[in-house]
Amino acid sequence: KSLTIGLIPADGIGKEVIPAARTAIEAVGSDLPPTRFVDLIAGFETFTRTGVALPEETVESLQNECDCALFGSVSSPSKKVVGYSSPIVALRKKLDLYANIRPVLSVSPNPGESSAVDMIVVRENTECLYIKQEQQTIGEHGKEARATRLITERASSRIGRMAYELAKARPRKHLTIIHKSNVLSVTDGLFRESVRALHEKYPEVTVAEQLVDSAVYRLFREPQIYDVMVAPNLYGDILSDAAAALVGSLGVVPSVNAGDNFVMGEPVHGSAPDIFGQNIANPIASIRSAALMLRHLGYMKGADRIDLAVDSVVRDGQLLTPDLGGKAKTSEVVEAIVKKI
Ligand code: NAI
Ligand code: MG
Repeated sequence: KSLTIGLIPADGIGKEVIPAARTAIEAVGSDLPPTRFVDLIAGFETFTRTGVALPEETVESLQNECDCALFGSVSSPSKKVVGYSSPIVALRKKLDLYANIRPVLSVSPNPGESSAVDMIVVRENTECLYIKQEQQTIGEHGKEARATRLITERASSRIGRMAYELAKARPRKHLTIIHKSNVLSVTDGLFRESVRALHEKYPEVTVAEQLVDSAVYRLFREPQIYDVMVAPNLYGDILSDAAAALVGSLGVVPSVNAGDNFVMGEPVHGSAPDIFGQNIANPIASIRSAALMLRHLGYMKGADRIDLAVDSVVRDGQLLTPDLGGKAKTSEVVEAIVKKI
């Protein structure tokens, strides 16, 4: 068996941190099958150069040639540019990456410390209010705007299954279903019931429910109560950014976009034009995204080796980039992590 990984650095610091993730994967060596990398393009720079943000060759390579991919970050124009639309949104659609999985872990996890944040936010990625069916009309009292919110049993069940599987593999095996079915009893009710219905297939997982507003409150008051959270698209979007704020720099938070046939690692941060080109971007979010992607594919040993190396470098505290209060360069952090691997 072999492993083919597509690399799409895209814009800004994506060009610095995706090569860093590649270096970390290469360092794992024999705990992974023979690995091949395919360099692919997408993003705003690609758009300004070629007129398309997501070239057909990139999509074809991902669909036909690659087992998984790493995506850096895209710069989006601040004003609407005719013909441009986000390649990451398009990729999620084309590859049916219906789950956005974001583990949130304290930067310096001291084993045994009970206040440490260690949870995963699992966000449904394809429906809810983000189907973008909005209309504005003129009513009796002026302008009126409406949006349609779609929740299906199919999408709720498949995100639910993903969340139970993740919970089952963790020490605490605890799942919290996020909803607001006291108000939106039809849509959120369907989400809640669909996820609940799967519980009998996962008896080892304990299940709790939380209304989304109080979930945010408790997230800030006592984040340690959460293990795996599963939420519809909009709530999940907000919760996952809020959870990331608990652990400090955006430069350390990884994610994957996953479907049944493909997984794509992606750091949560953007293209960071303010620090691009200075060799000071924190590569940890991308390196952890690579580990998460490998874990999702079942390469636990390789993923563990990468994560443990990152933990150890962070705990050492000697080589940290400026976003974590250090003075180290991107390349020095990568070198230290590779040595630990
Ligand atoms: P950003 O995430 O690029 O940067 C926010 C702040 O965090 C900046 O001060 C930046 O220097 C810092 N930062 C981010 N990643 C870092 C890292 N790895 N190491 C150290 N510091 C880091 O968000 P911003 O500034 O709002 O957006 C910049 C561009 O990125 C925009 O064009 C935006 O549309 C795009 N963006 C793309 C995303 C994606 O590709 N998924 C997500 C968020 C923004
Ligand atoms: Mg967001």
